Amino acid sequence: MTSILANFEKIFGHSAEVISEAPGRVNLIGEHIDYSEGFVLPFAIADRTHAAIARRSDGKIKIASHQRRGKVFSISVSDVKPGSAGDWEKYVLGVIWSLGVKDGLDILVDGSVPAGAGLSSSAALECSVAVGLNELLRLNKSLEDLARATQKAENDYVGMPCGIMDQSVSLMGKSGAALLLDCRDLSTQSVPFNVAEAGLELLIIDTQAHHALVDGGYAERRASCESAAAKLGVKSMRDLTLEDLESGRDKISDTEFIRAHHAVTEISRVLDSVKALSISDFETLGKLINASHVSLRDDYTVSCQELDVAVQASLNAGALGSRMVGGGFGGSAIALVRAADVEKTESAVLDAFAKNGYKKPRFFTSLPSAGASARLI
Ligand code: GLA
Repeated sequence: MTSILANFEKIFGHSAEVISEAPGRVNLIGEHIDYSEGFVLPFAIADRTHAAIARRSDGKIKIASHQRRGKVFSISVSDVKPGSAGDWEKYVLGVIWSLGVKDGLDILVDGSVPAGAGLSSSAALECSVAVGLNELLRLNKSLEDLARATQKAENDYVGMPCGIMDQSVSLMGKSGAALLLDCRDLSTQSVPFNVAEAGLELLIIDTQAHHALVDGGYAERRASCESAAAKLGVKSMRDLTLEDLESGRDKISDTEFIRAHHAVTEISRVLDSVKALSISDFETLGKLINASHVSLRDDYTVSCQELDVAVQASLNAGALGSRMVGGGFGGSAIALVRAADVEKTESAVLDAFAKNGYKKPRFFTSLPSAGASARLI
């Protein structure tokens, strides 16, 4: 990482005091249930955002990024509050605000998580800054505290009502394993995900589609789950069984019913996936992944044509399972494929996209990688 440190000196005229990094994520299964206090099973990917930070004594926050060719954004720390100036810089400012930092800072970030692909480049950015500040300013926050602080930054500063999955896995991910995260209390369990040993690969297909619904659609889904829970007299979807949902059907609207149906069934699919992985039963995992996609497409209605085409083309090419990941309305799908079938799957997806006149998709693979870290220089 000499280049980020050298760049930092070039831009700010002095050395960085801490260097930190945090990864993006993919979610194996457990979609749109983090804000319903459910269980999710994501893993941290190899792509990450690096941050280099140093204190300054004049009460100013200066932020630059390698991707924006070092253009410097400047604000007084006393002006760092929701509604402040800033574009992508708000993800950084939000973390400074939610951690209650009052020091002036120089911050340079360098991100390699593809933006807009549904791989949580925003959580990687927030968490790289959070672990860096935690180390530099000796804040002594636990990873759970940092997950809550970075989620608060995104909810209250950026204005995106996300759950806590992305930040948690970016902070707590472990190499070689998926993270079973209980979104109610943030307790975790490492679930070995040895795809390579099983002769498989998890292909990530970035559809390059971004539909306008993203923000409003997400908030609307979250609100439906909350209103359904309130009408059914439970704290969250986590406390609901399928039987309770069926018997309470006339207390909620049809939309609330199908949203809740997704949430309740998805929570069970996550727990079933953990059981399947404990015996390396990838066939069953594939079926659960497929069922998750159907539920997201038909009950939660957060898929889109590009995602459905990517999923169907992967399945036609022999994938064990395929589904959309992340918030939806575009972004990426995953496909669990035999290693020997990766090329065949990619060309099937490319063909299907070309036939439909969609933008050319991008492909990635990633093994489960380590979570965030920081080091004083
Ligand atoms: C986005 C949000 C997460 C989660 C997913 C859907 O990535 O940031 O909190 O809700 O969507 O599972």
